[in-house]
Amino acid sequence: MDLTRRNFVKVCGLGLAGAGTVALVGCGGEEQPADDTTQNEGDASTAKPVIFYNRQPSNSTTGELDMETLNYNENTYYVGFDATQGGDLQGTMVLDYIKAHAAELDRNGDGVIGYVLAIGDIGHNDSIARTRGVRRALGTGVEQDGNILSDPVGVNTDGSSATVQDATLDVDGTTYTIRELASQEMKNQTGATWDAATAGNTLTSWASSFGDQIDVVVSNNDGMGMSMFNSWSGGENVPTFGYDANSDAVAAIADGYAGTISQNPAVQAYLTLRLIRNLLDGVDIDTGIGTADEAGNVIAAEDFTYDADHRSYYAMNLAVTADNYEDFLDATAVYETAQTQLDEASSPNKRVWLNTYNAADNFLGSTYKPLLEKYDDLLNLTVDYVDGDGQSESSVTNRLGNPDEYDAFAINMIKTDNGASYTSLLG
Ligand code: BGC
Repeated sequence: MDLTRRNFVKVCGLGLAGAGTVALVGCGGEEQPADDTTQNEGDASTAKPVIFYNRQPSNSTTGELDMETLNYNENTYYVGFDATQGGDLQGTMVLDYIKAHAAELDRNGDGVIGYVLAIGDIGHNDSIARTRGVRRALGTGVEQDGNILSDPVGVNTDGSSATVQDATLDVDGTTYTIRELASQEMKNQTGATWDAATAGNTLTSWASSFGDQIDVVVSNNDGMGMSMFNSWSGGENVPTFGYDANSDAVAAIADGYAGTISQNPAVQAYLTLRLIRNLLDGVDIDTGIGTADEAGNVIAAEDFTYDADHRSYYAMNLAVTADNYEDFLDATAVYETAQTQLDEASSPNKRVWLNTYNAADNFLGSTYKPLLEKYDDLLNLTVDYVDGDGQSESSVTNRLGNPDEYDAFAINMIKTDNGASYTSLLG
């Protein structure tokens, strides 16, 4: 007989041991076929895989992880990247650049090296980690309750803000002041965050009032960074730093974009779909990840970590600068040792529902999704891709009308607080 996953999930949702064939030891526990001998290994695990990716279920005010969502069922995981390591790497990259170029950076010779910062989403833990990483490395952060404040300062050309502080840096016997001249959440009028156009316009307006003080431009991502570079800083030769290593940003390093961080999207996109594959096949979760699968697919230990307590996989970040950008020109290249198609006999075709929070997001649209599209073929998954509008969760959840049609789900929430909006639909 055929024990469909759907049966298991329904039974679990109702809290009944039933369907005449299954005895469940609680929803999160092991389930055992009572009298069935034909169940194949692939059905050993019954809960449909639910992978949150890129936006970690968490409280957007406190940053506290939403463990209820992350434990929605035994096959729920998060895939992202190590946000703190990445933020610190970005901060160090900017600091190293300032140290190497201090004299020529201080364009108006006032002894102050001023930077402006584009913030993506004040409630997104990746955005917070990048703001903190830059402030920590440059010494401009102000701590409260053990954490560096990550709020935008607005305009701070006189250095009087209480949210950041002026730092000092000695380079070759000269002491410079480092000042965060301005920072702002780049949200457009309809509420979409990480908004590239807003970042470009904001920099133009900052430049028209205090342009001669702006020596460095930093952005929480490349979408905003490139918009700023194109609107003002590129033409003025003001070094501009972003995050994501999107192909257009890496290419712009040849034209003066100062640097970016790769969040190892090939690893993240692979993990997003590979976890689904492993869970559906009922094999060890590490298969084709830390442990090579039969086809030889494997991810190097230094490229990811797994945090079991938080059910989270994190890719490790890499700095991309003028020294190494040529290795990163194609942001959509699949991972070197994970590109062999799985055997359809042991990994049969399955149907997956996957969304991105915003069709207009540069990183997800130009880097992450093209990688997912390559991996879905290799992993024998048929994926229905749905793009949200970046503003209202319902632009996505409205399109999850019939979850029974799918074997697994990969979710990119609009707001990190909203995990339950999805899990409640899954039953
Ligand atoms: C990326 C941003 C992107 C955001 C979307 C971040 O990890 O760096 O570019 O806009 O995810 O959630």
